[in-house]
Amino acid sequence: MTRKHILIAAAAIALVGSAASLWIRADEFTKKDLARWQNEFMSVVKKGRELWTSPKLGTKGVACAQCHPNAANTHPETYPKFQKQLGRVATLREMFNWCLMNPLEGKPLALDDPRMIAMEAYATYERRGVPLAPGKH
Ligand code: HEC
Repeated sequence: MTRKHILIAAAAIALVGSAASLWIRADEFTKKDLARWQNEFMSVVKKGRELWTSPKLGTKGVACAQCHPNAANTHPETYPKFQKQLGRVATLREMFNWCLMNPLEGKPLALDDPRMIAMEAYATYERRGVPLAPGKH
């Protein structure tokens, strides 16, 4: 082998090695991890359900669940999509805020507010299994 061949071989070994270690890293979780992650997720869904059914989010004593029981008519699977209320392509969270400000007459939540994430987790969990249809009306 020439010096050039040795260098190429070394580079190839390094490449395979790093690909293998990436592969291993991607698989590095146990059943215990999975159970813990699922519990964490379901505890956020539970928080979301509490907020969804709470009349305290807005100022009118009205809860999301009164018009959207079990997240009915929220269609998370269709977002992002054009929303005529906002006049542009919007996210599900922006529509949550639209309802917070309009029927509920409350203040909008920051898009990364933990309460917003919890309500998104709840609404999408209620619609689990529905095929994604972004943009659909
Ligand atoms: C007084 C009834 C009422 C309440 C309470 C209400 N909404 Fe709505 N919601 C509506 C109406 C009306 C629309 C518009 C429907 C449309 O665009 O077809 C809507 C639309 C939505 C949409 C978009 C639906 C879609 O098909 O794309 C989402 C998401 C949503 N609401 C979430 C919420 C959340 C979250 C809350 C609580 C913060 C809430 N709504 C409270 C009446 C309500």
